[in-house]
Amino acid sequence: MKKLCWYAIKMKVLIVFGTRPEVIKLAPLIHEFKKYPDLFDIRVCSTGQHQEMVKSIISFFNITVDYNLNLMRENQSLTLLMANVLIGLKKVIDEFKPENIIVQGDTTSVLAGSIVGYYNKITITHLEAGLRSGNKFSPFPEEINRKVVGSIADYHFAPSNIAVDNLFKEKITKNVWNVGNTVIDAIHMALKFINNVGIYKNFFLSRKIDMSKRIILVTAHRRESFGNHFVDMCEAIKVIGEKYDDVVIVYPVHLNPNVQRVAKKILSNTNNVYLLEPLEYPFLVWLMSQSYFVLTDSGGIQEEAPSLNKPVLVMREVTERQEGIKAGVSKLVGTKKENIIKEASALLEDNQIYKSMIDAGNPYGDGTASKKIVDIYKKMKLESYK
Ligand code: UD1
Ligand code: UDP
Repeated sequence: MKKLCWYAIKMKVLIVFGTRPEVIKLAPLIHEFKKYPDLFDIRVCSTGQHQEMVKSIISFFNITVDYNLNLMRENQSLTLLMANVLIGLKKVIDEFKPENIIVQGDTTSVLAGSIVGYYNKITITHLEAGLRSGNKFSPFPEEINRKVVGSIADYHFAPSNIAVDNLFKEKITKNVWNVGNTVIDAIHMALKFINNVGIYKNFFLSRKIDMSKRIILVTAHRRESFGNHFVDMCEAIKVIGEKYDDVVIVYPVHLNPNVQRVAKKILSNTNNVYLLEPLEYPFLVWLMSQSYFVLTDSGGIQEEAPSLNKPVLVMREVTERQEGIKAGVSKLVGTKKENIIKEASALLEDNQIYKSMIDAGNPYGDGTASKKIVDIYKKMKLESYK
């Protein structure tokens, strides 16, 4: 096994991402690494698993993509995507010859990145390591992706003590650090940028959304919910929109055609419900900051919302983000229509319940994860001289 070459003049590191949350969570780390051009030769590879949905994020965070595999195809299967990422990444590795590959999270691009690294005896670093739901098919296919990446990776940056414990339970105890989640670094970067309130508010006003009402931000896209669960989720949103006239539901719809089709069929022309295109990251963060609460199945949004002091109702049967549940800032409401309506109504009508879900701080990090990670890289590099 080729060991990380900490003693080299510059360490050659390939950072791989494919989807929206990966770019957001890797952006602060890329910037932190780039502060040390004498120590690290950082190259960034986008697999292109997502296309439109990452374009504005790459430009917002001012990231230079060195390799783009351009792999997105309409509604492509996991198998084809996986095969193409493996083939595409092999070419990048043959050209750049990295000593270390960094992957973040649990997507197909992450799984492929770690497998290509393993096949080529390159060390793998896994960010957001140790998340586990304990259910092989939920989230699907992310739970198994993470477990496989965890078993391959050489360096594990976990976001919490719970995640560290999950790794320990699987006997992964070496090179494990709890650094918090880099998504908190990212949201801090976005919040610094969002100073021109006018632009953001006008964007939503121009879509005829009454911003003086209480806003519920909705997102949903998980594969394990496709079918009846997703129909139930949309029907619940419809009922809530029709029930409360002092509320607007703003739902930027994920571009997955399986999500688009159902969301549009059930929710178009529903009172107080606004379906939008996926929002550019600062617009999403601004909207979240203005919202009353968030109704979502997103992993990243569960982590971000506590930084803006917003309660989260999680439309999933299980969640690997237990930290928010334990802190009381998020609540698992499942995917059944009646329960979603009940829990959303309780938050809208009962101030005591609402208050009990705010002011607990963010259990997912403090905005310093990227610095901690790069400090660990720098330390390991220095120690290799000894
Ligand atoms: C993927 C990840 C999921 C992550 C999510 C974040 C896998 C298996 N799934 O799910 O873990 O939570 O991203 O959003 O890795 N599409 C577009 N434009 C885009 C992006 C997607 O049109 O910019 C459409 C395409 O038709 C594409 C489809 O959405 O084939 C599905 O994309 P894919 O990346 O396979 O899965 P997601 O559902 O986005
Ligand atoms: N996000 C965004 N625009 C949107 C919806 C989400 O920028 O319209 C951001 C959100 O703030 C979070 C990330 O995308 O940082 C979450 O991505 P997603 O929900 O697609 O994936 P998951 O986190 O569930 O893997």
